[in-house]
Amino acid sequence: MYLTWTPWTIAWTALAVVTAVVLLFRTAPYGRHIRSDWGPTLPHRLGWIVMEVISPVALIAGLWWSIYPSMESLSGFQMGLVALWLGHYLYRALIYPYLMRWKEHRMPAVIMLSAVGFNLVNGGLNGVQIEAIVPPTAISPMMWVGLSLFVGGLAMNVHSDAILRSLRKPGESGYRIPEGGFYRWVTCPNYLGEMLEWTGFALLAATPAAVAFAVWTAANLIPRALSHHKWYKNQFAVYPRHRKAVIPFVL
Ligand SMILES: NC(=O)c1ccc[n+]([C@@H]2O[C@H](COP(=O)([O-])OP(=O)(O)OC[C@H]3O[C@@H](n4cnc5c(N)ncnc54)[C@H](OP(=O)(O)O)[C@@H]3O)[C@@H](O)[C@H]2O)c1
Repeated sequence: MYLTWTPWTIAWTALAVVTAVVLLFRTAPYGRHIRSDWGPTLPHRLGWIVMEVISPVALIAGLWWSIYPSMESLSGFQMGLVALWLGHYLYRALIYPYLMRWKEHRMPAVIMLSAVGFNLVNGGLNGVQIEAIVPPTAISPMMWVGLSLFVGGLAMNVHSDAILRSLRKPGESGYRIPEGGFYRWVTCPNYLGEMLEWTGFALLAATPAAVAFAVWTAANLIPRALSHHKWYKNQFAVYPRHRKAVIPFVL
């Protein structure tokens, strides 16, 4: 661990665990779980872009805040971490919402606002802590594992998103059972891929902020995967019995 944990980073990570417990009982109301009693809504694509773009902007702002006014340049290692972050969010904030067939989809404003708040803190904290990293003199085996998890997780996430996208023809809004790829083993390989990515990033960066983000990602996505899994089993009598929610053969 390059940086030591402070009461703030411990509290931030503990909040993720509390959030996971809440989400096990209250599924976030967007997508198939949207509900009409969560206040005003806005177009899903607009809400998605706004809430996700905040993350890379906050990371850059956190870096800038830490570097200014000395303006020391970042090492190759630090630049690599920033590139991984920006690459992920280029896909998530701009390419993904452009590719998705969202026409009439809406999102509660409260979901967008809570994601904006999360991404401001998460992006900013990661930016500040990446700047504080003392670059390693050699790449350790743990870092290679982290990089492999990040790249493999991103590939799984993007591939799984593409399978979901292929399930609807233009103008359709219903749901089908996804098949192929990692859907052979789990209901939500897009979430599994996302969790692998940020676990890999945490191994690479080894900062409390990066570890906290990996915990937050699991805290958000494991309860949601369990909700999706239950929903599929209720909707489709023929839903594959061996398929788990998010961790192959386990959960
Ligand atoms: N890092 C984090 O904490 C975090 C948090 C949330 C999301 N994410 C990432 O953001 C991405 C999207 O998340 P999400 O929660 O919106 O994912 P999702 O519930 O799997 O939905 C993704 C898209 O696919 C459509 N879809 C899902 N299942 C379908 C089916 N059976 N048939 C037809 N269409 C289907 C959805 O339509 P509907 O909208 O109509 O359901 C939606 O447009 C994921 O890759 C996830 O990893 C990350």
